[in-house]
Amino acid sequence: MSDDHMRTTVPEAVAAVLGWPVAHSLSPRLHGFWLREQGIAGTYLGLPVAPESFGVAVRGLAAAGFRGANVTVPHKLAALRLADEVDDAARAIGAVNTLVFQPDGRILGRNTDAYGFMANLRQAGVDPQVGPALVIGAGGAARAAVHALLVAGCPRIYLTNRTEATGYALAESMADDRIIVLPFNCLKNMPDDIVLLGNTTSLGMAGKGVLDVDLSGLSETARVHDIVYVPLETPLLRAARQRGLRTVDGLGMLLHQAVPAFRAFFGRDVAVTDGLRAHVLGGK
Ligand code: ATR
Repeated sequence: MSDDHMRTTVPEAVAAVLGWPVAHSLSPRLHGFWLREQGIAGTYLGLPVAPESFGVAVRGLAAAGFRGANVTVPHKLAALRLADEVDDAARAIGAVNTLVFQPDGRILGRNTDAYGFMANLRQAGVDPQVGPALVIGAGGAARAAVHALLVAGCPRIYLTNRTEATGYALAESMADDRIIVLPFNCLKNMPDDIVLLGNTTSLGMAGKGVLDVDLSGLSETARVHDIVYVPLETPLLRAARQRGLRTVDGLGMLLHQAVPAFRAFFGRDVAVTDGLRAHVLGGK
């Protein structure tokens, strides 16, 4: 048995991702990479937690000395409700993906998805201030993307969703007149001024349907981003590449959203590198 398996007390710093299910989560793999890279005596676990046990589990982990937890589907709303205090992004998006346990027992709720969305685009050289974006979708991921674009100073955000009413509800809750809701058939005839097209729906994911878009109207400098990362090159990104447009894949957002969480749990600033990408991809 390795030393790891014989450990009987918790290491210095422990954090986890809570999901139901959680086996598919890449978070243990990516936090594990940084823990090793940084030489930190810490552990990051994937813990399957059923919805009805979420509150008990979180308080139990806090009581047991965990530093915090990431939360994924289906717990992001429950985490928002449970947190004693939430940051601006979590409030605007309506979801918490990172719980930070304070020494005084308070639980802070943060949302790092908007940060991850924008950090990924910026690393790819996208400047959100230079022109309008078109966001496809109106779910939690769309809320993170729209919030990030608003904070980053994007001058106009076109929003389109299969269920138009949900798009209007998102725009209304964000209360910013830079958001313009368009009918879903705009994907067949896109505004010609957009500099960023972003898919936040699950369409394009292996086993799901495919987005029906016509990219021919896009300017040749437009960038196309897909939040889906299985496959890494979605049909949307392939179509964009074939049109000669530069693309940004969705794995980067997952990696970047973990950076502030790692800092909160383990106290170090870490980077999203090619080495990290290769490690995380190697585990799939
Ligand atoms: P998440 O929190 O990951 O964003 P979600 O809240 O379930 O997930 O949102 C899913 C998004 O994908 C929604 O915008 C949804 O559109 P509807 O509001 O019309 O449901 C979109 N979506 C899912 N399946 C779709 C499909 N087959 N065609 C078009 N949009 C789809």
